[in-house]
Amino acid sequence: MKRMLSGIKPTGQLHLGNYIGALRNFVLSQEEYEMIAFIANLHCITVPQDPKELQKNLYDCVALYLACGLDPSKATIFLQTDVMEHAQLGYILCCHTYMGELNRMTQFKDKQAKGETNLSGGLYTYPSLMAADILIYDPDFVPVGEDQKQHVELCRDIAIRMNNRYGELFKVPEPLIPKVGARIMSLTDPDKKMSKSDETNKGCIYLLDPLNVARKKVMSAVTDSLANVHYDPENQPGIANLMQIMSSLSNDRPFGDIEQEFKGKGYGDFKKAVAEVVCNKLEEIQTRYNEITNSNLIEKTLNEGANKARAIASKKLDLVQKKLGMEIVLK
Ligand code: TYM
Repeated sequence: MKRMLSGIKPTGQLHLGNYIGALRNFVLSQEEYEMIAFIANLHCITVPQDPKELQKNLYDCVALYLACGLDPSKATIFLQTDVMEHAQLGYILCCHTYMGELNRMTQFKDKQAKGETNLSGGLYTYPSLMAADILIYDPDFVPVGEDQKQHVELCRDIAIRMNNRYGELFKVPEPLIPKVGARIMSLTDPDKKMSKSDETNKGCIYLLDPLNVARKKVMSAVTDSLANVHYDPENQPGIANLMQIMSSLSNDRPFGDIEQEFKGKGYGDFKKAVAEVVCNKLEEIQTRYNEITNSNLIEKTLNEGANKARAIASKKLDLVQKKLGMEIVLK
């Protein structure tokens, strides 16, 4: 069975972009692949966090993994900090990552370009830790949204570099980017990615948004004046974004089919239908979330997941340290 691995960082509440671009694909993949899904709680402290808020987001992130359909009997689900080997391999990989490579990472560059001050060293070296998260499990595929592709590519470069230098250490994984929904855009600014750091909150639908709030956000989404439900991301980015949301949440419904249904109808009708699909999905997730938070499933899932993950990770770390000559081999 081929292996897949991915993670989400709980810097805020999970949103529809995280679901469509990533989480939904973890759930679909667990049937066909050995799925490893973790919560990247080391990555989230690369930017300042309020400890109380972080604790809540962390808990909700695990609950939402399960509420969205990840099944602990099929997938390995755990917290990054419960498997300390990630940080140790992260340091080793950081020593094999060039500063030139880290300088080219758009996520860091964007923050720098915005003039954000006091950026941390952890944020700068974040892609090396992400490479460790991946390479320590030898996955075949890494399902992520568009914005993480560059990091997975750097991970591949590090793996190839180290394999060449020390002999076969790591499998070189492939990023798996969904054809539709790899970059869900903000509802208020369809040129910007839907993101946890949306200041107005209006462009981002959180998975735990009350349904009336989510409906309102969809109904106020920015569109255009062409009055034509047609998939054209360049000229009609707002409509194309809503179509991607609708298609992904209705079993990958073809765009042509959606265009057909709304031919000659106004954007109001179309938005109502999108809001309906979104609210149905949120309701399904939230019902399950409420059941999960009233059970002991989270603790059990994380304990079992960490034990399974640790068994794989510790072997790989040991192999790497031996191959690099970092361990004493007694004669
Ligand atoms: P994070 O937490 O920013 O995002 C989690 C996943 O959601 C995807 N995503 C989106 N997809 C579509 N549209 C959007 N608007 C959108 N916003 C986010 C992301 O592409 C991602 O797949 N560095 C990672 C976490 C991580 C990781 C890893 C992932 C740490 N180690 C190892 C894979 C493998 C991150 O910050 O994702």
